[in-house]
Amino acid sequence: MLRHRTTHLAPDGRRVRRTTAARRAAFLVSVVGVLAVGALAGCSSSDGGGGATPPPTGPPAPPPETILALGQRLFDRETFGGNGRTCVTCHMTETGTLTLDAVAARLAAAPGDPLFLHDGLDGGAVGTSRIVQHATIRVELQLPPYVTLENDPTRRTIIVNRGVPSTMNAPALDGVGLAAFMHDLRNNDLQEQALDAVHGHAKGTVEPTREQLDAIAAFEKTDDRFFSSAALRAHGRGGPQVELPAGSTESERRGRLFFLDVAVAGTKQGMCGQCHSGPNLNEISALGNREVGFPVGAKFATALVSETNANLDPVLTFRVDNGSGDVRLVSLPDPGILLTERGRSRHLSLFVSATAHPVLLAGLFKTPSLWGIGRTPPYFHDNSAKSLRAVVDHYADRLFKQITFGGAFVTLTEQDRQDIVAFLTLL
Ligand code: HEC
Ligand code: HEC
Repeated sequence: MLRHRTTHLAPDGRRVRRTTAARRAAFLVSVVGVLAVGALAGCSSSDGGGGATPPPTGPPAPPPETILALGQRLFDRETFGGNGRTCVTCHMTETGTLTLDAVAARLAAAPGDPLFLHDGLDGGAVGTSRIVQHATIRVELQLPPYVTLENDPTRRTIIVNRGVPSTMNAPALDGVGLAAFMHDLRNNDLQEQALDAVHGHAKGTVEPTREQLDAIAAFEKTDDRFFSSAALRAHGRGGPQVELPAGSTESERRGRLFFLDVAVAGTKQGMCGQCHSGPNLNEISALGNREVGFPVGAKFATALVSETNANLDPVLTFRVDNGSGDVRLVSLPDPGILLTERGRSRHLSLFVSATAHPVLLAGLFKTPSLWGIGRTPPYFHDNSAKSLRAVVDHYADRLFKQITFGGAFVTLTEQDRQDIVAFLTLL
């Protein structure tokens, strides 16, 4: 059962049908239909959407040293006349993110640390209980023209609590071709992302120049700290794609099978690889396309995290209008990609049909890389899973209770769960 509650409204606003618990499978099938068509429509780029540009080919030429030195200075020390924060305030050097241990240590060491300001505080004002418990940041998002809040139709922004995605691997490996950044894919490139961060998190008063934004992007794509291993760094510079580690114990080797992207009938092989495939382990594979219906290469899907709402974040009801009189309601704490306008996202322009109802994107999120995952708890866009074991339990007890694999519902046993965690920590 899907927890999205989509209500269809007649043009006069009268509720005509309430699909309280649409079957998950039915939802995914409808996504398959529209997204598969969208992939074709986007390729021909004749829909006037965002104008998807063809991915550049070949490894990028390394930027000159001076640009990288400038990028490092800006990332680590430049406040742009704002509240004292820099990029490294939230994307710490060792992990690229903010772990619960780091939050606790920094609060104990220096309560005046600029991390503990506005969007780091409870209600955006005072108190550190949320950041201490979940290490989340309050992110303010604009509602696109087709979305209004059911209970507050004049409000044009919402606040969601989101974890800090690690800046390891994503800048270089998700930054080529169909680049897609943020949990909701709203940024097309690192420059756009950095500009938003200066405005949003650092409350900068000095506008970054194009040269500065380019330097930050170049630094994020090349410096050692932005890769979880030397092999991935080499891949980021045009070297070979990194293969999954073989595993040295029986448990690790069994765990590895879940991440392959080819299934073997009657086994659980490929259950995780269907969505965590490709060079950065965050793309839909051909197997995933057949099983869950998202298009091959898409870096987004759902793991039913927002629907589960384990952190009990406030739930909002969104009224979503497709522009042709088909208005639907959906209730979620974080609507994810629903708020990212298809026409403004190169990634979505390519993978989502222009005629798809935007409500179908509610609850979808960027699929994060799994490389180096052992070092970057907590997990999921809302940081609701505090350990890898909690992630795997979520899949076992929630997602795979609602989606089938190989035509049947598959149970993950205690041994399976231990094997998957053992393999994840090798990545
Ligand atoms: C207050 C904490 C904070 C600061 C300061 C901050 N970020 Fe972030 N960063 C976040 C959060 C939270 C997200 C996810 C936001 C979302 O999805 O809405 C994010 C996302 C990102 C991403 C996307 C990663 C991915 O996998 O899609 C990149 C890249 C990034 N930040 C770089 C930067 C840079 C560069 C700076 C400095 C100019 C910066 N950040 C400053 C908290 C922060
Ligand atoms: C249907 C596609 C799909 C399948 C199948 C899938 N994942 Fe995911 N995975 C995602 C998406 C999407 C996210 C981000 C979800 C969110 O934050 O809301 C994610 C997030 C994660 C994360 C958290 C990463 C982070 O940095 O926060 C881990 C770890 C993970 N998945 C492991 C697995 C494992 C292990 C399996 C198999 C048991 C699996 N996934 C199966 C799509 C999938």
